[in-house]
Amino acid sequence: MALCFVTRQLPGPALDQLRAAHDVEVWTERLPPPPAELRARGARADGLLTLLSDRVDAELLDHCPRLKAISNYAVGYDNIDLEAATSRGIRVGNTPEVLTDATADLAFALLLAAARMLPQAIESVRVGDWLTWEPGHPLGHEVHGATLGIVGLGRIGRAVAQRAQGFEMTVLHTRTSMSTGEPLELLLEQSDFVSLHCPLTPQTHHLIDRAALAQMRPNAILINTARGQIVDHAALREALTDGTIGGAALDVTDPEPLPAGHPLRSAPNLIVTPHIGSATRVARERMTQLAVDNLLAGLEDRQMPHQVNR
Ligand code: GLV
Ligand code: GLV
Repeated sequence: MALCFVTRQLPGPALDQLRAAHDVEVWTERLPPPPAELRARGARADGLLTLLSDRVDAELLDHCPRLKAISNYAVGYDNIDLEAATSRGIRVGNTPEVLTDATADLAFALLLAAARMLPQAIESVRVGDWLTWEPGHPLGHEVHGATLGIVGLGRIGRAVAQRAQGFEMTVLHTRTSMSTGEPLELLLEQSDFVSLHCPLTPQTHHLIDRAALAQMRPNAILINTARGQIVDHAALREALTDGTIGGAALDVTDPEPLPAGHPLRSAPNLIVTPHIGSATRVARERMTQLAVDNLLAGLEDRQMPHQVNR
């Protein structure tokens, strides 16, 4: 029997499979375990089941001599120092595929909400500003037939492209290792909507900076369901305020959550949702299953079903 530390309650029944095979400690609070708590629990654990809000760096791993497996409850694993884990012989797994459609749906929901100014429309009813049917107010953007630029044509990017076909959009995408595509500058210049679907890496950190925003169309809307750090938030705040771009819809920010008083909280034409891309019951329960399958394999020193290191 191994000891596993699971850093949050997870939806669905799959944790019971882990409990049947191993000793399992679950962090039951709503906020993540503080770093000192994670170190103390990790020090005794053979396996960790972590969330994207748990920072797993070399310093933490130095406190975890027994650790054989880290199973991240997310498709992204930028919260984990992969090199540090690999050099210590620790397997790291993630939960791809099961959340692709849920995340693509949310990207499209944000695109539609921003284009048709749904938050403003809903608010106008709420505050009693629905006076009559008005020809010129509020006027949003046409989605049908518009051009969508997809930055990062992986699983989620492709699923967004499929949805865009139903709206008869022209879809552009950046180059990938497997397919040709547009250089980012051209995509930014031509797109009415730009949706980000690349992982966070040193290469994509602040990929959307002041210069990139300046290349976008004045009416264009930026959608981010990937990672907050891909967008330079100070530059985005400026671009929204001075009308360099038409709007933005972010499901991910830097940091998360955006603290009270953060400049982006009061930016115009901005929708922010609290990182809910994969938040459907089906997706989250499947993520639990995958995360448990990964952990069970790693603890037995088998290749994980979705292992991200060798
Ligand atoms: C969520 O952001 C994930 O990476 O799964
Ligand atoms: C709008 O409601 C219309 O009938 O055109």
